[in-house]
Amino acid sequence: MTRYQQSHWQNEMRLTIDFNNMMEDYIGPEEGFSKEHIDALTVKIAKAHQSMTVKRNTGAMDWRKLPLDQQEVVRDILETAQGIRSWCENFIVLGIGGSALGPLAVHTALNHLHYNELPVEKRGGPKFYVLDNVDPERVHDLLDIIDPATTVFNVISKSGSTSETMAQFMIVYQMLQEKIGDQYAKHVIATTDAEKGNLIKIARQEGFKTFIIPGGVGGRFSELSPVGLLAAAVCGIDIKELLAGAAFMEEICGEANVYQNPAYMLGALQYLAMRRGKNISVMMPYTDSLKYFADWYAQLWAESLGKRTSLTGEEVFVGQTPVKALGTTDQHSQVQLYTEGPFDKVVTFLTVGRYRKEINIPKVFEEIQGIAFLGGHTLSELITAEQMATEYALMKAQRLNFTISLPEINAFTIGQLIQLLEIETAFTGELLNINAFDQPGVEEGKNATYALLGRPGYEAKKEELESRPIKKIEFTL
Ligand code: PA5
Repeated sequence: MTRYQQSHWQNEMRLTIDFNNMMEDYIGPEEGFSKEHIDALTVKIAKAHQSMTVKRNTGAMDWRKLPLDQQEVVRDILETAQGIRSWCENFIVLGIGGSALGPLAVHTALNHLHYNELPVEKRGGPKFYVLDNVDPERVHDLLDIIDPATTVFNVISKSGSTSETMAQFMIVYQMLQEKIGDQYAKHVIATTDAEKGNLIKIARQEGFKTFIIPGGVGGRFSELSPVGLLAAAVCGIDIKELLAGAAFMEEICGEANVYQNPAYMLGALQYLAMRRGKNISVMMPYTDSLKYFADWYAQLWAESLGKRTSLTGEEVFVGQTPVKALGTTDQHSQVQLYTEGPFDKVVTFLTVGRYRKEINIPKVFEEIQGIAFLGGHTLSELITAEQMATEYALMKAQRLNFTISLPEINAFTIGQLIQLLEIETAFTGELLNINAFDQPGVEEGKNATYALLGRPGYEAKKEELESRPIKKIEFTL
C-alpha cells in the first residue's frame, strides 16, 4: 500500500484551518466575528450547499470529480510523460491564465526551487518552462536558449482560440517545421476541449498527441485535469498522490455543516468580511515553494468572484482584490500597510509544519548580543517565529487573518490545497449569488483584441472600438 492510501498518514497530512483571528474573542467585536454571525448565515449556507450539490451532479462542476474519475487519463499521462522523460531536454507549456498558473504553482511547490539548474541526473526529467505571455523579448529569449530537436511544447488552451497561446503556437509550429522537418508533430502535445475551438481541429489534422480538458472544467479550475497533470508527471511529480490529496479534501468538503467543512468556513468568513467592506484578500505563504500558489489563487479568486451582475440579474459589482505576498520577504515591504493601513483586508497565511530541508544558523559572533541570539536556531525556527510574530501583530492591530497549515509540502497536501481553495471559491460564489464560472470581463478583452487584429466576424466590435473617444493631447504629458 502506498503512503497516501493509509488512513493514519492521510490524517497526519490533513490540512488545518485556524480562524481564531477572524473571531471577536481575539480581534475584538468591532472587527471580529462571532458564532452568531456565522449561524445567521445558516439558511444561506444550506442553500449554497444545495446548489453546489446540484451543480456537482449535473456536470456544472466537473472539476470536483477530477480527483476521482481519471484513471484512464492518468495512465495515458504517465506513459506519455515517461516517453518524454527518456529523450526530451526541455518541456515548455504554452498557455495563459488557468492554462499556465496551475502547472507553474504545482511545479514550484513540489520540485527543487532551482530545478532547471540541477544537473540532468538529479532532475530526472527535462527542464520546465511556462511561457504565459507574448512579450516578444521573452518569447525570443526562451526560443534562443532551447534546442527544438530536444524540446516538447505542450500547447494548452481550453477554448482553443486565445490569441496569446495561439500566436505562440503558430510561431513554434513554423519553427519546428523549419528546424525539425517531417517529425515536427512529435514535438507538440495539445491539451484542449474535445470539440470547441481551433486547437482540437489542428491537433487532429496534424496528428498531435492530444489530451482533453473535460466539459465542466473551466480554465482556472483545471489544474487537476491534463492541464496540470502532464507537466507535473513530466517533471517527476507523483500525480496519483496529488489526486489522492484532492480526493481526500473533496470528501471532507462534501459535508453540509459549515463547522465541519473547511472550504465552507473559509468562504463564509470571507463573505462576512466582504459584507463589511473588506475588499482585499491577501495570500501570504511562508515558504518560497508556495509563492506561485498565491498567483494561482489570485486568478481563481479574482476571475471567479469579480462580477458585475448577480444570478438574478441585479448589478452587484462584487469581488475581493487578491494580493500576493511572501513571508518573510513582504514583512519588509507590505506588512506595515497590513497592520496600520485601512481596515480593508483579510490575510490568509499559508504555513508549513515541517520544512523539507533544514539549515542551522551557526553560533558565530557570540560577543555581539544583537545577533548572537540567532546562533543555534534553525532557519525553519526563524521563519516560523516570524510568521507567528506577524500573525500576532495583525491580531493585536485587530486585523482579520486566518491560517491554512500544511503539515509538510508534498503531493498529497498540495492536492488538498487545490481542492480546498477551488471549493471555497465556488462556495463563496454561491453565497454572493454570482456565477463563479464565467468571465465576461475577460471575454470582452479577448474580443476587442480579435477585432483590433482583424479577425473575421468581429467587424462590429472593431467599429465600436474605432468610435471610442479620441484621447486629448492636453491630458498627455
Ligand atoms: O480561467 C479562465 O477561464 C481563464 O483564465 C483562461 O484559463 C484563460 O483565459 C486562457 O483560456 P484558454 O485556456 O481558453 O486559452
